[in-house]
Amino acid sequence: KIIILDFGSQTTQLIGRRIRELNTYCEIVPYNKFPYDDKNVKGVILSGSPFSVNDPNAFKTDLSVIRSHYPVLGICYGAQYIAQSAGGEVGRSSTREYGRARLQIVDNSDPLLGNLPQNSQVWMSHSDVILRLPDHFRTIASTEEVTIAAYKVEGEPTWGVQFHPEVSHTEHGMRILDNFLTICRCRKDWTPASFIETTVKELKEQLKDDKVILALSGGVDSSVTAMLLNKAIGKNLTCIFVDHGLLRKNEFEKVLADYQDMGLNVIGIDAKERFYKALKGVTDPEKKRKIIGKGFIDVFEEEASKLEGIKWLAQGTIYPDIIESLSITGMTIKSHHNVGGLPEKMNLKLCEPLRLLFKDEVRRIGLALGMKPQIIYRHPFPGPGLGIRILGDITPEKVRIVQDADDIFISALRAADLYDKVWQAGTILLPIQSVGVMGDERTYENTIVLRAVTSIDAMTADWAHLPYEFLAKVSNEIINKVKGVNRVVYDISSKPPATIEWE
Ligand code: XMP
Repeated sequence: KIIILDFGSQTTQLIGRRIRELNTYCEIVPYNKFPYDDKNVKGVILSGSPFSVNDPNAFKTDLSVIRSHYPVLGICYGAQYIAQSAGGEVGRSSTREYGRARLQIVDNSDPLLGNLPQNSQVWMSHSDVILRLPDHFRTIASTEEVTIAAYKVEGEPTWGVQFHPEVSHTEHGMRILDNFLTICRCRKDWTPASFIETTVKELKEQLKDDKVILALSGGVDSSVTAMLLNKAIGKNLTCIFVDHGLLRKNEFEKVLADYQDMGLNVIGIDAKERFYKALKGVTDPEKKRKIIGKGFIDVFEEEASKLEGIKWLAQGTIYPDIIESLSITGMTIKSHHNVGGLPEKMNLKLCEPLRLLFKDEVRRIGLALGMKPQIIYRHPFPGPGLGIRILGDITPEKVRIVQDADDIFISALRAADLYDKVWQAGTILLPIQSVGVMGDERTYENTIVLRAVTSIDAMTADWAHLPYEFLAKVSNEIINKVKGVNRVVYDISSKPPATIEWE
């Protein structure tokens, strides 16, 4: 495996994903938590950082043991830190460089860059540069602005690159990372098939004849978790799928049928009325979230208590839920929570077979397990569901309006081949009425907002630039078919400063 030491860069997770795309297992650890006892480490990558190495608060760690034991690749801050800690000099560059540059390779025989063409594009993002290299360090590539764009330490498998090989704007970034993996003698055999084989074996050993319970949400993570466990322990896995009455139109029935087709032992619970009752008259978004969250736990617990001898709770926690890039304040790892508080309360052990996977890997594994692309490529959907897309209080009638409008919007996206081009889409019901005219009559009805965004990780998002004709068609169809709606608007805010959801 490769260890990525995280110095807090926004691209640390991306480095991890790239290494995994090269079929190599890697783990991201805080910069000062190197696993010295781990015998499987084959190489180390040092990430970038929001700090300057000259900042008194910059993240620093002792590299002596690491550098003498493993091949090392420093990226941006990582490269500067290696150079500075060995006696080199790092300082402000005359201009803050951000964007494309052309790489001039000085040493063609170098195994990291040797097989790259001259003048390929690389992506720079830094305000410091390495001004002077320590003795035994040698420049292997430059750009017009930066003399020391890449270096190698003589007699030791340590490299530094000022640019970012992990971003797609670096034309041959993947080849550079692949070269590094070759230098590390990685076998590059981490594939969905190998993951499934080892995980199923491990789950069998870990769980033996124990009974496991899992809450399905309809989303990809919990579904893939269920399929893996089903493969490992079959009927000893019981899945619970709760309808809180705030799912998409007919979603409960459709998804339940899909789960049954996949051979899962699943109990579907219709708890609509109970949730509507608990939510009656509640308008505050956080209160709504709490009521829905608690209601979900209560229903789940009641169902679980009807089953005998359950020992484990399985969850679809994935790697980004566990790792959070280091924040500037020095916080290390964010605690994760999927089904908050359940395991302690129910005295269950936790089983999270996807905890080391990125989202795209979960999808690849789902496909390798034979799951339908509709389930694998489903848009993200919030746990509180339509509850946070109905602004103000929730009533069954309002749920019907949002469900019908949402169904028209999502079906149209699919029909126009736009569904896979957006990250997430849905409709929001506003708590105001406005005047309209239908036939000869004045109407005073509700407004529906269409929301569709593009994103890579939901942390930032842009409104999707959907074609006007498409929006016009959806608007017409909603106003004509959904009783109680006389106006449709399109949300053109990006995140930040807005958010994806309205509550
Ligand atoms: P925002 O609105 O914060 O949403 O831009 C980012 C992503 O998170 C989802 N989201 C939630 N998911 N419970 C969830 O399980 C919630 O309370 C919740 N709020 C927002 C949102 O759909 C988007 O994918």
